[in-house]
Amino acid sequence: MLKRAAWRAAEVFTTPAPPQEFARLFNPLVSSRQLRGVVTAVRHETANSATIEFTPGGTWDAHKAGQYARIGVEIDGVRNWRSYSLVTAEGHDPAITVTAVGRVSSHLVHHTEPGDVLFLAPPQGDFLLPTGPRPLLMLTAGSGLTPVMSMLRTLLPQRRDADVVVIHSSRNSDETLFLDELTQMNDAHHSLTLVHRFTEHEGRLDLATTHDLDTLCPDWRSRKTYVCGPQEMLDDAERLWHSEDLPHELSVERFAPTLFADPDARGGVVTFEKSDKEANAEGNTTLLEVGEDAGVLLPSGCRMGICRTCLTPLVSGTVRNLSSGELCSDEGELIQTCISAAVGPVHLDA
Ligand code: FES
Repeated sequence: MLKRAAWRAAEVFTTPAPPQEFARLFNPLVSSRQLRGVVTAVRHETANSATIEFTPGGTWDAHKAGQYARIGVEIDGVRNWRSYSLVTAEGHDPAITVTAVGRVSSHLVHHTEPGDVLFLAPPQGDFLLPTGPRPLLMLTAGSGLTPVMSMLRTLLPQRRDADVVVIHSSRNSDETLFLDELTQMNDAHHSLTLVHRFTEHEGRLDLATTHDLDTLCPDWRSRKTYVCGPQEMLDDAERLWHSEDLPHELSVERFAPTLFADPDARGGVVTFEKSDKEANAEGNTTLLEVGEDAGVLLPSGCRMGICRTCLTPLVSGTVRNLSSGELCSDEGELIQTCISAAVGPVHLDA
């Protein structure tokens, strides 16, 4: 109410332009439509990863440990969105730790500077700490450590006796995120057990059977378990906990959809009619990626077939749903570009 009155008073001085337009000139976080954040620090973690701290604009909801946010960044005039876990403790300004894999993440790691503006969506996700004290097991690999870092940074200062086992896999110590901080945490908290698995020498943690878990964490069945890492690891964990009749004890964080590549898939030329652009698409590349690479501004959200933000009308041609394998050639049908690929020439109303 007070805020609205203040804007009305400001109109006296800024007419004919609304006061928001003047504010936007000086404060990049003021936007009537799009949540934004300004980068306050960039810290390199390993040779190809960096932590980017940012201060979000006013309507950002404080994140809970383990949540993620979609971050938008403009590259060559096209706004690209990706989901990243928020790595700071609850109650702190957010930060993301990004590994330079793929175009958007590489851009963030190598070209972000303090003062840059990021486009933001509110924190979300239910990969959250239990509400009461529980013995915990964290199984992470590579950048899958990031949501768990937020949990550890939140939990350990509050409960020095929190019983947590972290088994983290990375290729070697040079590629391990937060290595020094984890070591310090381990020294400071006797009830924290940290197991580094360097896959270069020890091979991957095998979750296809109970053998590795029985060896590294014999009471794993009695722990609330969180797993975040490559898809194969997540799939194995889900199968194992199901086979032990413990699916309710497992929380899985997935950032990528389960897509099925068809080795015989043929792509085709995709025409984005409204944008007047054309691109050659491979048979297993999503139409969203094809469009973005061609400089077409397509709507997107989760990029994993959940939110349906990317729905785009099919004008003609056939597309394959990479998740279900189903084909669709119905004119006017709304298709999810983030999980659909071209089968021959395709025209989209985009
Ligand atoms: S972007 Fe969410 S369903 Fe396609």
